[in-house]
Amino acid sequence: MKKLSLAVALMFAPTLAQAWPWSQDMANQVSIKPQESVDPANPGMALFPKRSQPVAGTTVIVKDMEAAKKMANPVAADEKSVATGRRLFEIYCTPCHGKSGAGDGFVGERLSLKPWDLTSGSQMHPWNTKDYPDGYIFGYMSLGGAVMPGYANDLSATERWHVVNYIRKTLQKAPAVTAAAQSK
Ligand code: HEC
Repeated sequence: MKKLSLAVALMFAPTLAQAWPWSQDMANQVSIKPQESVDPANPGMALFPKRSQPVAGTTVIVKDMEAAKKMANPVAADEKSVATGRRLFEIYCTPCHGKSGAGDGFVGERLSLKPWDLTSGSQMHPWNTKDYPDGYIFGYMSLGGAVMPGYANDLSATERWHVVNYIRKTLQKAPAVTAAAQSK
């Protein structure tokens, strides 16, 4: 019995140690914390103003995929929009989906669930039907998927539509990209 209670006490010892003050000593040392500054000319990040409150509904502006699919693309797919979309796609999407959009990015190759093919070469489903409208791509970007993160915090709604326009006008149109995707 004595042995057993000793074993139980030992089992809980690390848990207890966590609660002891020295478990925070490393964090409480004299050092510059993230967002802090010792240079009066360049102060660190300002605290939020007093009484500021989070504003609801500024990030995800779509309820679910069904709602997203019904959304009409409010941004005309002109040259400027496609160029902005390309820049954003290269920053946010190529690590997984690859430059071609086929899903062969460096990060994507290491995921257990491979990023799906965004080009017209997709084996999974045709992109040019009413089941996959612009709102579907917008919704996926806003909400994320099982593995894919959502981008509603990083990209404004307008920026997301620019990316949709880029995907539509280039990745899903250019024959060279399609051929490359199909040979994979
Ligand atoms: C961390 C890797 C990763 C990043 C970054 C990423 N995706 Fe994905 N994406 C995935 C994976 C994995 C899937 C497969 C579905 C899932 O995760 O649920 C996917 C699926 C999709 C789909 C659904 C495709 C289909 O055939 O139905 C779309 C659309 C999509 N991604 C668009 C984007 C866009 C646009 C970006 C950039 C804003 C992006 N993704 C960034 C990993 C990623």
